[in-house]
Amino acid sequence: MEVLILEDETAVAIQGAMLVVELIEKKSNAVLGLATGRTPIQLYSNLINYYKQGRISFEHIQTFNLDEYYGLSENHPSNFRQFMQRHLFDHIDIETTNTHLPNSNSNNPRLVGPAYEALIKASGGIDLQILGIGRNGHIGFNEPSSSLASRTRIKTLTNSTLQDNQLGSGKEELPDMAITMGIGTIMDARRVLLLAVGKNKATPVRNAVEGPISSMSPASALQAHQYVTVILDEDAASDLKLRDYYRWVHLKSEDIKAKYGNFYEIDLLER
Ligand code: F6R
Repeated sequence: MEVLILEDETAVAIQGAMLVVELIEKKSNAVLGLATGRTPIQLYSNLINYYKQGRISFEHIQTFNLDEYYGLSENHPSNFRQFMQRHLFDHIDIETTNTHLPNSNSNNPRLVGPAYEALIKASGGIDLQILGIGRNGHIGFNEPSSSLASRTRIKTLTNSTLQDNQLGSGKEELPDMAITMGIGTIMDARRVLLLAVGKNKATPVRNAVEGPISSMSPASALQAHQYVTVILDEDAASDLKLRDYYRWVHLKSEDIKAKYGNFYEIDLLER
């Protein structure tokens, strides 16, 4: 894992957006995996700015969101489709038909997962998956005890996730089930970008980066992915044992990249 520790939330969002911009500049029809929640909002507004400045276009980009509540209508203000419209899609030149979220209104939720997986596959697969992390270590809505090989499916949310989601949505009741990409689905992305900010993410981040790989800490599965970049502010990094080492590696790898380019990015384009 590449772990970048930056001074604050703004720096995390700038660095995260730069990785997306660099990908789009190299691959104008890239497939992006997107997250909702508080963490990526600033990253998305940076992307909107880069679009408005004419640096990037989303005309040929496809997106797949990690998850969607089960049972909320498509126009419901709290569903993730509406979140994405508000924070990104309404402000860029993306085709709505190229933006995908799991279908939250299917009569048979068990068919939604395989259909979503097939759509991701048909797109050529996700080039870059953006992730936040839950207080309980979840990625997507893969709650603790999720199979590390899981695929897109319906999932019951934990109390801590329900509480956190409720905070962001006012007073209304939100569904206690969601359809989420599985950990196996996330692991298929060519590159993964995990963002975390704030003190309440310090423990899940430590478990994800330095803990044992365990279904009790779903984000720890990313240790077995070959190309993960974790971008943290100082607070989210504060429990990491090796944080001085990660800073040192970051400096060294900037030198290497400046001299020789980024091996993995070359690999990404060739796939
Ligand atoms: C969102 C998602 C979740 C969030 C996580 C962190 O689509 O799948 O895993 O990324 O709950 O949420 P925030 O960013 O609100 O702390």
